[in-house]
Amino acid sequence: MRLTVIGGGFMGEAIVDQAITRGIAQPDEVHVCEIHAARREYLASRYKVTASDGYHPVHERVDALVLAVKPQDFPAVAARLRHHIAPEQLIVSIMAGVRMQHIGDALLRHHVVRVMPNLAAVVGEAFSIWTATEEVTDEQRETVRRLLQTWGREMYTTDEKLLDIATAVSGSGPGYVMLLLEALIDGAVHIGLRRDVATDMVVQTVLGATRWVQATGRHPAELRGQVASAGGTTVEGLLALERRAVRAAIIEAVIAGYEKSRALGG
Ligand SMILES: NC(=O)c1ccc[n+]([C@@H]2O[C@H](COP(=O)([O-])OP(=O)(O)OC[C@H]3O[C@@H](n4cnc5c(N)ncnc54)[C@H](OP(=O)(O)O)[C@@H]3O)[C@@H](O)[C@H]2O)c1
Repeated sequence: MRLTVIGGGFMGEAIVDQAITRGIAQPDEVHVCEIHAARREYLASRYKVTASDGYHPVHERVDALVLAVKPQDFPAVAARLRHHIAPEQLIVSIMAGVRMQHIGDALLRHHVVRVMPNLAAVVGEAFSIWTATEEVTDEQRETVRRLLQTWGREMYTTDEKLLDIATAVSGSGPGYVMLLLEALIDGAVHIGLRRDVATDMVVQTVLGATRWVQATGRHPAELRGQVASAGGTTVEGLLALERRAVRAAIIEAVIAGYEKSRALGG
């Protein structure tokens, strides 16, 4: 698969890494356009791909042209790319909040796919929800599926609004989970565990709890009830969390992320 990635940051690197590691693209089929010279050198030397500051390769049609810059940088990217993209080029945007219509109008190309992945793509465990304009062909949709499956699980929707919702849930989600992990580890250290032991214990606990929900398909509240035995330690801890309104704080975090995602879309 021939792949051009605009923006070689965290997500851009994960996309390049997974495409090559999982064998859907050879290194010489991948090109990254990135403004930082140090990042270009790093990506070229680590993944044996080509990297440039300029966008000249976009004249030639590739299987997917991936937009992996920050939403705020899109106007500058669009100004440079406009008039230079090959006809019927498949454009895959992972930018939070930026609507397909806007991308198509700004680039004068309308074979546009919008995806909301997450950074767990680094380990092939992302959840990616995606949608496409009518112009995107069946063959291009198949290309998108193959690409996204290298990042983890993928789900197609016809409803673009779901992507703004996913931005605040699965897109930002790893950030919230990291904060939870960090706090649990700090708590464990506070009561006397060595940090490396605490990290092992907490990571496996969160992984185990998640797999438990996944395997049983039961509501987390029901499983929480099984952990919290009468008069025990867990109910004591849960009461402390409820007193600090942790549940409400998390719900509000998701709502704040959703509002920001919609604001980025303009
Ligand atoms: N990170 C996540 O968890 C996540 C999850 C889902 C979706 N996304 C979306 O993925 C996109 C990329 O996120 P990221 O975390 O990978 O961001 P990032 O690390 O900032 O990567 C973007 C890279 O593109 C560079 N860049 C800026 N303008 C450019 C231009 N005109 N041409 C070429 N390169 C340019 C940036 O340089 P500078 O650093 O100088 O700006 C940076 O190196 C964003 O739109 C975000 O909404 C991210």
